[in-house]
Amino acid sequence: MANPHAIKKRLAGLISVLNKVAGGDLSQNIRLAKTKDEFTPLYVGLRRVIEAMRHQIVRTELINKRKSQFFTTAAHELRTPLGNMRWSLETILDDESANLSENAKIILYQAYDSSIRMTQLVNDLLTVSKLEEGYFVEGKKLIDICDVIRKTVALFSSDAKKKSVTLKLLIPKNKHCKRLMEPFFFSEAINNILSNAIKYSKMQGTVEIAVEKTRRTIKLRISDTGIGIPKNEQPNIFTKFFRATNAKKHTKQGTGLGLYIVREYIKKWGGRIWFVSKIHKGSTFFVEIPLQ
Ligand SMILES: Nc1ncnc2c1ncn2[C@@H]1O[C@H](COP(=O)(O)OP(=O)(O)O)[C@@H](O)[C@H]1O
Ligand SMILES: [Mg+2]
Repeated sequence: MANPHAIKKRLAGLISVLNKVAGGDLSQNIRLAKTKDEFTPLYVGLRRVIEAMRHQIVRTELINKRKSQFFTTAAHELRTPLGNMRWSLETILDDESANLSENAKIILYQAYDSSIRMTQLVNDLLTVSKLEEGYFVEGKKLIDICDVIRKTVALFSSDAKKKSVTLKLLIPKNKHCKRLMEPFFFSEAINNILSNAIKYSKMQGTVEIAVEKTRRTIKLRISDTGIGIPKNEQPNIFTKFFRATNAKKHTKQGTGLGLYIVREYIKKWGGRIWFVSKIHKGSTFFVEIPLQ
Protein backbone atom coordinates (compact mmCIF):
# COMPACT_ATOMS: atom_id res chain seq x y z
CA MET A 1 0.00 0.00 0.00
CA ALA A 2 2.28 2.71 -1.24
CA ASN A 3 -0.47 5.11 -2.25
CA PRO A 4 -0.14 8.01 0.24
CA HIS A 5 -3.79 8.93 -0.26
CA ALA A 6 -4.93 5.41 0.69
CA ILE A 7 -2.61 5.42 3.73
CA LYS A 8 -4.03 8.76 4.89
CA LYS A 9 -7.58 7.45 4.52
CA ARG A 10 -6.86 4.29 6.51
CA LEU A 11 -5.12 6.29 9.25
CA ALA A 12 -8.06 8.70 9.45
CA GLY A 13 -10.39 5.69 9.80
CA LEU A 14 -8.27 4.22 12.59
CA ILE A 15 -8.06 7.54 14.46
CA SER A 16 -11.83 7.94 14.26
CA VAL A 17 -12.34 4.45 15.75
CA LEU A 18 -9.77 5.16 18.48
CA ASN A 19 -11.53 8.41 19.37
CA LYS A 20 -14.89 6.66 19.63
CA VAL A 21 -13.40 3.93 21.83
CA ALA A 22 -11.71 6.56 24.03
CA GLY A 23 -15.15 8.20 24.38
CA GLY A 24 -16.58 4.93 25.68
CA ASP A 25 -18.23 3.69 22.49
CA LEU A 26 -17.31 0.02 22.28
CA SER A 27 -19.83 -0.84 19.58
CA GLN A 28 -17.15 -0.49 16.89
CA ASN A 29 -16.75 -3.58 14.75
CA ILE A 30 -13.29 -3.83 13.27
CA ARG A 31 -13.48 -5.71 10.01
CA LEU A 32 -10.24 -7.07 8.59
CA ALA A 33 -9.47 -6.69 4.89
CA LYS A 34 -9.24 -9.92 2.92
CA THR A 35 -5.67 -9.26 1.91
CA LYS A 36 -3.11 -8.56 4.60
CA ASP A 37 -1.11 -5.35 4.55
CA GLU A 38 0.94 -3.19 6.92
CA PHE A 39 -2.23 -2.08 8.69
CA THR A 40 -3.45 -5.61 9.50
CA PRO A 41 -1.57 -5.93 12.87
CA LEU A 42 -2.97 -2.55 13.92
CA TYR A 43 -6.54 -3.62 13.16
CA VAL A 44 -6.04 -6.98 14.89
CA GLY A 45 -4.58 -5.22 17.96
CA LEU A 46 -7.40 -2.71 18.10
CA ARG A 47 -9.98 -5.46 17.81
CA ARG A 48 -8.39 -7.29 20.75
CA VAL A 49 -8.31 -4.13 22.86
CA ILE A 50 -12.02 -3.49 22.22
CA GLU A 51 -12.91 -7.10 23.04
CA ALA A 52 -10.88 -6.97 26.27
CA MET A 53 -12.60 -3.74 27.27
CA ARG A 54 -16.05 -5.19 26.56
CA HIS A 55 -15.18 -8.24 28.65
CA GLN A 56 -13.99 -6.05 31.52
CA ILE A 57 -17.22 -4.03 31.47
CA VAL A 58 -19.37 -7.17 31.59
CA ARG A 59 -17.26 -8.43 34.52
CA THR A 60 -17.51 -5.13 36.41
CA GLU A 61 -21.27 -5.00 35.87
CA LEU A 62 -21.60 -8.53 37.20
CA ILE A 63 -19.50 -7.75 40.28
CA ASN A 64 -21.52 -4.57 40.95
CA LYS A 65 -24.75 -6.48 40.56
CA ARG A 66 -23.59 -9.18 42.98
CA LYS A 67 -22.46 -6.57 45.50
CA SER A 68 -25.74 -4.75 45.21
CA GLN A 69 -27.73 -7.99 45.59
CA PHE A 70 -25.66 -8.92 48.64
CA PHE A 71 -26.36 -5.51 50.10
CA THR A 72 -30.10 -5.77 49.47
CA THR A 73 -30.23 -9.22 51.08
CA ALA A 74 -28.14 -8.07 54.06
CA ALA A 75 -30.39 -5.04 54.64
CA HIS A 76 -33.46 -7.23 54.32
CA GLU A 77 -32.08 -9.76 56.81
CA LEU A 78 -31.40 -7.00 59.33
CA ARG A 79 -35.04 -6.00 59.47
CA THR A 80 -36.32 -9.04 61.37
CA PRO A 81 -33.88 -8.97 64.32
CA LEU A 82 -34.25 -5.20 64.48
CA GLY A 83 -38.03 -5.53 64.60
CA ASN A 84 -37.72 -8.13 67.38
CA MET A 85 -35.43 -5.85 69.35
CA ARG A 86 -37.84 -2.94 69.05
CA TRP A 87 -40.76 -5.10 70.08
CA SER A 88 -38.88 -6.39 73.17
CA LEU A 89 -37.94 -2.87 74.25
CA GLU A 90 -41.48 -1.64 73.65
CA THR A 91 -42.90 -4.48 75.73
CA ILE A 92 -40.65 -3.89 78.71
CA LEU A 93 -41.19 -0.13 78.61
CA ASP A 94 -44.98 -0.59 78.49
CA ASP A 95 -44.99 -3.13 81.30
CA GLU A 96 -46.03 -1.28 84.45
CA SER A 97 -45.27 -4.29 86.63
CA ALA A 98 -41.61 -4.26 85.49
CA ASN A 99 -40.68 -1.79 88.26
CA LEU A 100 -37.88 -0.18 86.31
CA SER A 101 -35.74 2.44 87.97
CA GLU A 102 -35.77 5.91 86.35
CA ASN A 103 -32.22 5.34 85.19
CA ALA A 104 -33.09 2.01 83.59
CA LYS A 105 -36.08 3.62 81.84
CA ILE A 106 -33.88 6.36 80.37
CA ILE A 107 -31.37 3.83 79.09
CA LEU A 108 -34.10 1.62 77.62
CA TYR A 109 -35.74 4.62 75.93
CA GLN A 110 -32.41 5.50 74.36
CA ALA A 111 -32.06 1.93 73.09
CA TYR A 112 -35.65 2.04 71.78
CA ASP A 113 -34.98 5.35 70.03
CA SER A 114 -31.81 3.93 68.45
CA SER A 115 -33.69 0.85 67.25
CA ILE A 116 -36.24 3.09 65.52
CA ARG A 117 -33.52 5.13 63.85
CA MET A 118 -31.71 1.97 62.78
CA THR A 119 -34.92 0.58 61.27
CA GLN A 120 -35.40 3.81 59.33
CA LEU A 121 -31.80 3.63 58.12
CA VAL A 122 -32.14 0.00 57.03
CA ASN A 123 -35.41 0.77 55.24
CA ASP A 124 -33.88 3.76 53.44
CA LEU A 125 -30.77 1.77 52.51
CA LEU A 126 -32.97 -0.96 51.10
CA THR A 127 -34.89 1.56 49.00
CA VAL A 128 -31.64 3.13 47.74
CA SER A 129 -30.10 -0.20 46.80
CA LYS A 130 -33.28 -1.27 45.01
CA LEU A 131 -33.36 2.03 43.13
CA GLU A 132 -29.73 1.65 42.13
CA GLU A 133 -30.28 -1.91 40.97
CA GLY A 134 -32.98 -0.52 38.70
CA TYR A 135 -35.51 -2.48 40.72
CA PHE A 136 -38.38 -0.05 40.38
CA VAL A 137 -41.05 -2.64 40.16
CA GLU A 138 -44.17 -1.50 41.93
CA GLY A 139 -47.01 -1.82 39.45
CA LYS A 140 -48.40 1.40 38.02
CA LYS A 141 -51.99 2.31 38.72
CA LEU A 142 -54.17 5.21 37.72
CA ILE A 143 -54.11 7.22 40.93
CA ASP A 144 -55.57 10.52 41.95
CA ILE A 145 -52.55 12.52 43.10
CA CYS A 146 -54.74 15.00 44.99
CA ASP A 147 -56.36 12.17 46.89
CA VAL A 148 -53.02 10.66 47.94
CA ILE A 149 -51.86 14.10 49.11
CA ARG A 150 -55.02 14.62 51.17
CA LYS A 151 -54.56 11.23 52.84
CA THR A 152 -50.83 11.73 53.48
CA VAL A 153 -51.40 15.16 55.00
CA ALA A 154 -54.09 13.69 57.28
CA LEU A 155 -51.57 11.11 58.52
CA PHE A 156 -49.28 13.91 59.68
CA SER A 157 -51.86 15.82 61.69
CA SER A 158 -50.86 14.28 65.03
CA ASP A 159 -47.11 14.89 64.41
CA ALA A 160 -47.94 18.50 63.60
CA LYS A 161 -50.11 18.85 66.69
CA LYS A 162 -47.29 17.64 68.93
CA LYS A 163 -45.21 20.63 67.79
CA SER A 164 -48.21 23.01 67.61
CA VAL A 165 -47.52 23.32 63.89
CA THR A 166 -50.45 24.48 61.77
CA LEU A 167 -50.93 22.33 58.68
CA LYS A 168 -52.59 24.09 55.75
CA LEU A 169 -53.69 22.28 52.65
CA LEU A 170 -54.60 24.23 49.53
CA ILE A 171 -55.86 21.78 47.00
CA PRO A 172 -58.20 22.20 44.03
CA LYS A 173 -61.67 20.95 44.99
CA ASN A 174 -63.61 18.67 42.68
CA LYS A 175 -60.63 18.35 40.37
CA HIS A 176 -59.15 15.05 39.45
CA CYS A 177 -55.39 14.89 39.17
CA LYS A 178 -55.15 11.41 37.74
CA ARG A 179 -51.93 9.91 36.54
CA LEU A 180 -50.55 6.46 35.97
CA MET A 181 -47.92 5.89 38.64
CA GLU A 182 -46.73 3.71 41.51
CA PRO A 183 -49.08 4.57 44.43
CA PHE A 184 -46.77 3.47 47.25
CA PHE A 185 -43.72 5.26 45.82
CA PHE A 186 -45.73 8.44 45.32
CA SER A 187 -47.06 8.52 48.88
CA GLU A 188 -43.54 7.73 50.10
CA ALA A 189 -42.19 10.74 48.19
CA ILE A 190 -44.82 13.10 49.62
CA ASN A 191 -44.30 11.55 53.01
CA ASN A 192 -40.57 12.34 52.90
CA ILE A 193 -40.97 15.99 51.95
CA LEU A 194 -43.77 16.56 54.42
CA SER A 195 -41.99 14.79 57.26
CA ASN A 196 -38.97 17.05 56.68
CA ALA A 197 -41.17 20.15 56.72
CA ILE A 198 -42.62 19.15 60.10
CA LYS A 199 -39.39 17.77 61.53
CA TYR A 200 -37.46 20.95 60.71
CA SER A 201 -40.30 23.24 61.87
CA LYS A 202 -40.01 25.23 65.04
CA MET A 203 -42.78 25.11 67.66
CA GLN A 204 -45.89 26.99 66.54
CA GLY A 205 -44.73 27.05 62.92
CA THR A 206 -46.81 26.65 59.80
CA VAL A 207 -46.53 24.08 57.06
CA GLU A 208 -48.44 24.79 53.88
CA ILE A 209 -49.05 22.30 51.11
CA ALA A 210 -50.40 23.76 47.89
CA VAL A 211 -51.40 21.74 44.87
CA GLU A 212 -51.98 23.29 41.48
CA LYS A 213 -53.10 21.45 38.41
CA THR A 214 -52.43 22.78 34.96
CA ARG A 215 -53.36 21.14 31.68
CA ARG A 216 -50.12 19.20 31.46
CA THR A 217 -48.63 19.14 34.94
CA ILE A 218 -49.29 18.88 38.60
CA LYS A 219 -47.36 21.31 40.78
CA LEU A 220 -46.79 20.95 44.50
CA ARG A 221 -45.42 23.49 46.90
CA ILE A 222 -44.56 22.47 50.44
CA SER A 223 -43.39 25.35 52.57
CA ASP A 224 -42.46 25.65 56.22
CA THR A 225 -41.40 28.36 58.61
CA GLY A 226 -38.66 26.20 60.10
CA ILE A 227 -34.92 26.22 60.58
CA GLY A 228 -34.04 26.69 56.88
CA ILE A 229 -30.95 25.39 55.10
CA PRO A 230 -27.61 27.23 55.28
CA LYS A 231 -26.79 28.72 51.88
CA ASN A 232 -23.37 27.04 51.59
CA GLU A 233 -24.90 23.61 52.28
CA GLN A 234 -27.84 23.94 49.89
CA PRO A 235 -26.06 22.33 46.90
CA ASN A 236 -25.61 19.10 48.92
CA ILE A 237 -29.03 18.32 50.25
CA PHE A 238 -29.98 15.79 47.55
CA THR A 239 -26.69 13.95 48.12
CA LYS A 240 -26.89 10.57 49.83
CA PHE A 241 -26.37 10.73 53.63
CA PHE A 242 -25.98 14.50 53.67
CA ARG A 243 -27.57 16.33 56.62
CA ALA A 244 -26.97 20.04 57.08
CA THR A 245 -25.20 21.14 60.27
CA ASN A 246 -28.27 22.95 61.65
CA ALA A 247 -30.47 19.90 60.90
CA LYS A 248 -28.11 17.64 62.84
CA LYS A 249 -28.22 20.04 65.78
CA HIS A 250 -32.01 20.31 65.57
CA THR A 251 -32.65 16.55 65.69
CA LYS A 252 -30.75 13.28 65.70
CA GLN A 253 -33.55 11.68 63.71
CA GLY A 254 -32.67 11.37 60.04
CA THR A 255 -30.65 9.33 57.60
CA GLY A 256 -29.92 11.94 54.95
CA LEU A 257 -31.37 9.55 52.36
CA GLY A 258 -34.93 10.87 52.12
CA LEU A 259 -34.46 13.62 49.58
CA TYR A 260 -32.12 11.52 47.44
CA ILE A 261 -34.85 8.85 47.23
CA VAL A 262 -37.55 11.46 46.52
CA ARG A 263 -35.55 12.98 43.68
CA GLU A 264 -34.89 9.56 42.12
CA TYR A 265 -38.62 8.77 42.16
CA ILE A 266 -39.57 12.14 40.70
CA LYS A 267 -36.95 11.79 37.95
CA LYS A 268 -38.51 8.47 37.00
CA TRP A 269 -41.88 10.16 36.55
CA GLY A 270 -40.27 12.74 34.28
CA GLY A 271 -40.64 15.47 36.89
CA ARG A 272 -38.35 17.69 38.90
CA ILE A 273 -37.88 18.94 42.44
CA TRP A 274 -36.19 22.10 43.66
CA PHE A 275 -36.33 24.41 46.65
CA VAL A 276 -35.66 27.84 48.07
CA SER A 277 -34.63 28.28 51.66
CA LYS A 278 -33.47 30.87 54.09
CA ILE A 279 -31.76 30.05 57.35
CA HIS A 280 -34.00 30.65 60.43
CA LYS A 281 -36.90 31.63 58.12
CA GLY A 282 -37.94 28.42 56.43
CA SER A 283 -37.88 26.38 53.25
CA THR A 284 -40.16 25.80 50.29
CA PHE A 285 -39.91 22.69 48.16
CA PHE A 286 -41.43 22.62 44.69
CA VAL A 287 -42.33 19.51 42.74
CA GLU A 288 -43.55 19.41 39.17
CA ILE A 289 -44.77 16.19 37.58
CA PRO A 290 -46.09 15.90 34.05
CA LEU A 291 -49.56 14.40 33.77
CA GLN A 292 -48.34 12.46 30.68
N1 LIG B 1 -37.89 21.39 55.24
C1 LIG B 1 -36.58 21.43 55.53
N2 LIG B 1 -36.10 22.40 56.36
C2 LIG B 1 -34.78 22.46 56.66
N3 LIG B 1 -33.86 21.58 56.18
C3 LIG B 1 -34.30 20.61 55.37
C4 LIG B 1 -35.66 20.48 55.00
N4 LIG B 1 -35.77 19.43 54.17
C5 LIG B 1 -34.53 18.93 54.04
N5 LIG B 1 -33.64 19.62 54.74
C6 LIG B 1 -32.18 19.41 54.81
O1 LIG B 1 -31.82 18.47 53.83
C7 LIG B 1 -31.20 17.34 54.43
C8 LIG B 1 -31.52 16.10 53.64
O2 LIG B 1 -32.89 15.76 53.80
P1 LIG B 1 -33.29 14.22 53.92
O3 LIG B 1 -32.60 13.49 52.84
O4 LIG B 1 -34.74 14.11 54.02
O5 LIG B 1 -32.54 13.80 55.27
P2 LIG B 1 -33.06 13.64 56.78
O6 LIG B 1 -32.99 12.21 57.03
O7 LIG B 1 -32.07 14.43 57.58
O8 LIG B 1 -34.44 14.18 56.91
C9 LIG B 1 -31.69 17.37 55.88
O9 LIG B 1 -30.83 16.68 56.74
C10 LIG B 1 -31.73 18.85 56.15
O10 LIG B 1 -30.43 19.34 56.39
MG1 LIG C 1 -35.99 13.36 55.59
